[in-house]
Amino acid sequence: MCGITGYVGARQALPLALDQLRKLEYRGYDSAGVALLDAAGLQVVKSVGKIASLDPLLDGHGNGCLLAIAHTRWATHGRPSTDNAHPHTDCSGQIAVVHNGIIENYLALRERLEAAGHTFRSETDTEVLPHLIEEHLQAAEGAGEADPLAAALRATLREVRGSFAIAVVSAHTPDRLYVARRDSPLVIGLGAGEHFIASDIPALLAHTRDVLVLEDDDIGAVSPTSVTLHKLDGTPVQRAPLRITWDAAAAEKGGYDHYMLKEIREQPATIRDTMRGRVTPEGRVDLSGEVSLPAEKWRAFNRITLVACGTAYYAGYAARYFFERLLRLPVELEIASEFRYRDPILDEHTLVVPISQSGETADTLAAVRLARRQGATVLGIVNVVGSSIAREADQVLHTWAGPEICVASTKAYTSQLIALYLLGLHLAGVRQEGTHPLAEPLVGAMQALPALVEQALDNDRVVQEMAHNFTRSPDFFVLGRGLDYAVALEGALKLKEISYIHGEALAAGEMKHGPLALVSEGTPVICLATQDDLREKMLSNIKEVKARGATAIAVVKEDDTETARIVDYVVRVPRTLDELMPVVAVVPLQLLAYYVARDLGREIDQPRNLAKSVTVE
Ligand code: G6P
Repeated sequence: MCGITGYVGARQALPLALDQLRKLEYRGYDSAGVALLDAAGLQVVKSVGKIASLDPLLDGHGNGCLLAIAHTRWATHGRPSTDNAHPHTDCSGQIAVVHNGIIENYLALRERLEAAGHTFRSETDTEVLPHLIEEHLQAAEGAGEADPLAAALRATLREVRGSFAIAVVSAHTPDRLYVARRDSPLVIGLGAGEHFIASDIPALLAHTRDVLVLEDDDIGAVSPTSVTLHKLDGTPVQRAPLRITWDAAAAEKGGYDHYMLKEIREQPATIRDTMRGRVTPEGRVDLSGEVSLPAEKWRAFNRITLVACGTAYYAGYAARYFFERLLRLPVELEIASEFRYRDPILDEHTLVVPISQSGETADTLAAVRLARRQGATVLGIVNVVGSSIAREADQVLHTWAGPEICVASTKAYTSQLIALYLLGLHLAGVRQEGTHPLAEPLVGAMQALPALVEQALDNDRVVQEMAHNFTRSPDFFVLGRGLDYAVALEGALKLKEISYIHGEALAAGEMKHGPLALVSEGTPVICLATQDDLREKMLSNIKEVKARGATAIAVVKEDDTETARIVDYVVRVPRTLDELMPVVAVVPLQLLAYYVARDLGREIDQPRNLAKSVTVE
């Protein structure tokens, strides 16, 4: 959370840094600020609220300014306020810092700095950084360092514990900005006679496809014509740039009112992209070009642990059912923030699969590190190329869903499902002699999925009309059994995230053990009934809630007339194999959350209190 951008070069830096920042607004949006260097020296402008709230304050600023850094905040330490907004400066007002992450030992550092006479203006952890740099700068200058600010920054960061991606500008070095990272992402965009920095790649795509991804404890000095990287101990670093092939238009709204609707509608294409090049002409899943492990290693796994947060965790929920059915291996599913504190049992026979859109979620990243330390093989399912999890996992399977901008995840979820199916099928292929009996029908059915999701999207009008009836409902229940329960979890999360209506997913069989007491006249209950072998049981559960006055909304396979008859609203989705139904069944739930939120006038792409990339624990 929190987004950082910056520009140094021959063009007007302020509008460029702000333009990039707007592309990162999904990372946090409770306050924003910029620091720019022009003929008048270092200036800092900040404000509470979204990035647009800076516009009136920036009138008349930035002419002839060739260097700027900017920040959009998601508060951790200190409520949203102008004082707490970044950039933060030192006592002299000559050094400005923007930060994403948490400085864990900031209280001790702050006490020391205050005792030494430094004056603090905010409640943030970040503010210790400019003051520490100020302190170390004097020593670095005294020691005759070639680049005293870089030396002061290294000395500062050696003192801090916690996570950071930072950018620093200083009136002492008007020709360059400085960057550093540990556990929070930062990339440098390479241009001709200009450089960009940003928390993630989509913010750079309008300007360059060539990026340098900072690694932990890298410190960079970035001028218009050079990028010099060192490690914290001063060792020089050479790093090859990455070439990004994402389409820049994919990170724009493209005529839709919201990124969310655009991203929901992109799913037929993104599902196709996730599968591209991974199925042989003979219809076999082959990932050997991307994930390369010796056959005996694949065969030696005796357990799979899926680990993730949020939507990615719910993709893991579906994968668990699928993997167990296909591979007959025990599969554990873990919330990343719990996993690392549970002292999990892992060894070289465990395949750990972190699932993450951003590849930067702090808890998932910590789980990756823990698993590797314990000797497990880590195979990441990740969307963002060059992200921390993609780099730190032993193997990566990219989901290729393209940039996802809306905070609430949609296309990344279905691409995660597809990538997990592909992984399961690949594993099934390499673990057993000959073809798995389920493999051929599954691969065939997967190839039809883009067209089926297209048909599921045809429910748009039906769902839109239905949504009007539920804007006043304080609660929704979402029921399912088996794989339908995995989808129910994701559907309820979508409702919560963007409509702010309480949505609760329940394994339908559990209703009678307590939650049924909450059902009364008109309670909306979404009932997923897409699993053939569980349909009759689900019908009984629907009757139970109907008998207590619930308004039942069913998501059923297109030919299921029986369920349709007993509910108040029905959404029909096309039929495919039960294992693959989650990809199709989730679509109406995404649309329902979207239209309910739209009717309620919510900030759909940037829901309150949330951020897309959660880089703090
Ligand atoms: C945040 C986002 C969710 C996302 C979760 C995990 O909570 O708001 O949409 O599912 O993080 O993110 P990841 O990038 O690891 O998939």
